[in-house]
Amino acid sequence: MTRPSHHFQSTVGSKVVMALSGLGLMIYVIFHMLGNLQVFEGPHALNAYAAFLRDMPILLWTTRIGLLSLATLHIVLAIQLTLRNRHARPIAYAVHEYRQASFASRTMAASGLVLLLFIVFHLLHLTAGVIDPSAVDRLDVGGHHDIYGKLVHAFQNPIIVALYVAGQLGLGLHLTHAVTSSIQTLGLEHAAFNRLFKAAGPTVALVVVLGNVAIIMAIFLGIVRG
Ligand code: HEM
Repeated sequence: MTRPSHHFQSTVGSKVVMALSGLGLMIYVIFHMLGNLQVFEGPHALNAYAAFLRDMPILLWTTRIGLLSLATLHIVLAIQLTLRNRHARPIAYAVHEYRQASFASRTMAASGLVLLLFIVFHLLHLTAGVIDPSAVDRLDVGGHHDIYGKLVHAFQNPIIVALYVAGQLGLGLHLTHAVTSSIQTLGLEHAAFNRLFKAAGPTVALVVVLGNVAIIMAIFLGIVRG
């Protein structure tokens, strides 16, 4: 096997793994948003749902280890591919060929970094309680972990709201290009469905961002309250 063909195969292989790991993470983000939307049904619904998930340690830890593995794989391959592309083309184009590439596709590294910073912040904030320890051990009247109370407390703070909305913009931009690009990488092309595939990224991005921002703003504006 010649080196260029080996190089090509490993690049394609990395892209396929990136696409699959990215789609796995996207599925989590969709289910996470749907679960969190239960904040609109009140404390009982959201806290009972969170308790239900926590009471299944096998599911909880499989999801956590799965997410960590997918995210690590995705990020390591993203860095590797970016460095490989730079190495393959050490001199930047004199004229940037931006006409074809969308804004979302050109800013994948930046939006990915914003998203990574958001996730680290989010875990330190809501899961570990490092950023705001005051709400971490709250229990509701039923003795459940008070996720509803945590969210209401969190999104009354304008700085937290601004940081979460910024994270959603990173997420939206990343998903806009990532979903359609993953479908292409996996070779799912068919004349009858190509318009659908093209719309998949922006649609998923819009739905997830609107769902998450609705939670944040409903609490901030006092529509959902403690
Ligand atoms: C408005 C948007 C969001 C809200 C309201 C929200 C809410 C929450 C809550 C309540 C928890 C559980 C905290 C606890 O256990 O005490 C959590 C955990 C988590 N969230 Fe979010 N989240 C949002 C967006 C996101 C996004 C966009 C991502 C990923 C891109 C994400 C990834 C995670 C992860 C990985 C965990 C840890 C899960 C675990 O502990 O097993 N969240 N989130």
